[in-house]
Amino acid sequence: MRRSRPLLRTTLFLALLLPLLGGLAVSCSPVRYIMMTASTTGAGPEAQPPLPGVDDGLSGWLQARPDVDLLISQTLYGAPLPPGEVRVTEHRVIDANAYNGAGRLEMLRLSITLPGNGQGAIDLALVLPNSSTEAAPVILIPSDCGLQAQLRRSDIPPNRNPVPSYCEPSGSRLEEYASSFFGEYVVSPPLEQILRRGYAVAAWHESDIAPDRASLHAETLRSLGLDPAAPDRPGVIGVWAWMMSRVADVLETEEAIDSEQLAVMGHSRRAKAALLAGARDERFSVILAHQSGTGGASLHRDNLGEPIGSITEGYPHWFVPGYADYADREDALPLDAHYLLALIAPRSVLLGNSWRDVWSDPAGAWRAAEAASPVWSLYDVEGLNQTRLDEIDVSGHIAYHIRPATHGVRGEDWDAFLAFLDAQLQTRSGPEP
Ligand code: GCU
Repeated sequence: MRRSRPLLRTTLFLALLLPLLGGLAVSCSPVRYIMMTASTTGAGPEAQPPLPGVDDGLSGWLQARPDVDLLISQTLYGAPLPPGEVRVTEHRVIDANAYNGAGRLEMLRLSITLPGNGQGAIDLALVLPNSSTEAAPVILIPSDCGLQAQLRRSDIPPNRNPVPSYCEPSGSRLEEYASSFFGEYVVSPPLEQILRRGYAVAAWHESDIAPDRASLHAETLRSLGLDPAAPDRPGVIGVWAWMMSRVADVLETEEAIDSEQLAVMGHSRRAKAALLAGARDERFSVILAHQSGTGGASLHRDNLGEPIGSITEGYPHWFVPGYADYADREDALPLDAHYLLALIAPRSVLLGNSWRDVWSDPAGAWRAAEAASPVWSLYDVEGLNQTRLDEIDVSGHIAYHIRPATHGVRGEDWDAFLAFLDAQLQTRSGPEP
């Protein structure tokens, strides 16, 4: 009997992939970690050092907060960028009945000027829900692979700027396999579902200003009017967080958007940026940080997830250069991830995780959330309302979500994100829950 071509191709693909994964498993930590499962109780070393000022009530925390803010810049992300000035130079409707009629797709061109002749431009896609005429809450979602891939549309301008190699070629078999491993929403969110729940989406390609390549980072900083040799120069995570705020500048002025209801979602390295944007910019009411790991919500002192030596070697452009000095000296850090989370209080943050994503250290994120939670109580709101990792409670301003499987974005993740948004922004569910 003749073998069908797809079956033959699948067999060939697995024959090539399995030995490759096997080889990687012994040599490469993230792959080896897939064989492990995170602690179901979140147990591990306590978050250190204690948060300053908290023992002295809200006034004590508010006094300490600027120092905590400064410390995260000095130790992790580099100096914040100046806000600059954003202008909308173009605004057009692409499709008034996109996503099976659920939304209206518009494209905006943003032009940003900064001191020292710095400049940048962002192509911003805005998808507005058709179900309501009221100003809509919006979720900001940056893209790695560009807008055509993120919006699943070929009729918008193709990327002008570099994409990571794993993004190409879109629509290929490889992409199919990648999505079955990393989840169907790793490149593009479930737009129709989001729109039918009453949320708008703002999307852009991070490479419009800051491509995720170490070799291009100095050029990124120069174009923004910054000195790439400055010891406190921002890493790409800091630039991405700044881009989120520049998009917020424009959304605040859009009539179709409820400026009191800005949420930002990021996965993995972009979740690190989303947390930082939430810490630095109080206009973000809800932060959805999925699998943010080291340099995000997970404690460095956990000794389980990605070590500093590994992240700074693999991605030297992500953080402030001095972060690498803490490689193998995690205990010497003057802060940990609970400092970053505490800066978001009293606003809302969801931490997404998966059991087999030990590289992102789900247990470390749980304990960071526990350690930061008392700061929410100082504002008289509930922080983490959960006693178990696997029983999400969206009524607390910190929610912890964990599901089976590995790194990636799946339908059940978006179900949790939307449930949290509904609870925290008090929006009503649309026709399609
Ligand atoms: C790598 C990196 C992580 C990062 C992840 C991602 O695994 O080590 O820190 O979060 O990539 O962005 O997918």
